[in-house]
Amino acid sequence: MTGQVYLVGSGPGDPELLTVKARRLIEAADVVLHDKLPGPEILASIPEAKREDVGKRAGGEWTPQEYTNHRLVELAGDGKTVARLKGGDPFVFGRGGEEAEHLAANGVPFEYVPGVTKLPAYTGELRDAGMDPETPVALVERATWPGQRVAVGTLETIVDVRDREEIEPPAITVIGDVAATRERVAAFLQNGSDGDEMEE
Ligand SMILES: C[S@@+](CC[C@H](N)C(=O)[O-])C[C@H]1O[C@@H](n2cnc3c(N)ncnc32)[C@H](O)[C@@H]1O
Repeated sequence: MTGQVYLVGSGPGDPELLTVKARRLIEAADVVLHDKLPGPEILASIPEAKREDVGKRAGGEWTPQEYTNHRLVELAGDGKTVARLKGGDPFVFGRGGEEAEHLAANGVPFEYVPGVTKLPAYTGELRDAGMDPETPVALVERATWPGQRVAVGTLETIVDVRDREEIEPPAITVIGDVAATRERVAAFLQNGSDGDEMEE
């Protein structure tokens, strides 16, 4: 009997940003295939016995996409209900399309369950292209995870800010006036002191 695969977006990491459907499917699944992007809180809420990590392996190597594709078909072939859990939305830089194509090619029933995506990040040679060097830029490390950090600078300073504050992946870059909003509303934010905040 063929099982069923759900390509599920987990949102940015805060468990309350999981959709109701995502939560239900995770609970109902026989197996949850994931990497680290769903974040520590969501992953900790899933019984270890049904979790399979297809992210970074010991030694720092990534599990090849071909393995994940193959494993989804294999599990479905065993009649399992599988939640393929991906950070944010499966189709936003998430390789959801490749997995969907592989499942379709192998006759495995699947369903796409959208997730709340992280803010899109646009980087590039903006300053060299003529953008104002004073344009605000914010780096958000581990957004919505415990220990989230925000570092704020400008197009001119952000690389130094990043190095000085040792911002590590996963992190998103927010460029433009909106990046300075947090500073302007910080006094009104109930949890304005959450996490470390660094400003240039
Ligand atoms: C391969 S993309 C996956 C995007 C995901 N499918 C989505 O819809 O958000 C991974 C990149 O997203 C960003 N990212 C993912 N989770 C993040 C988080 N919790 N905080 C900050 N950036 C994050 C980082 O830039 C990371 O390198």
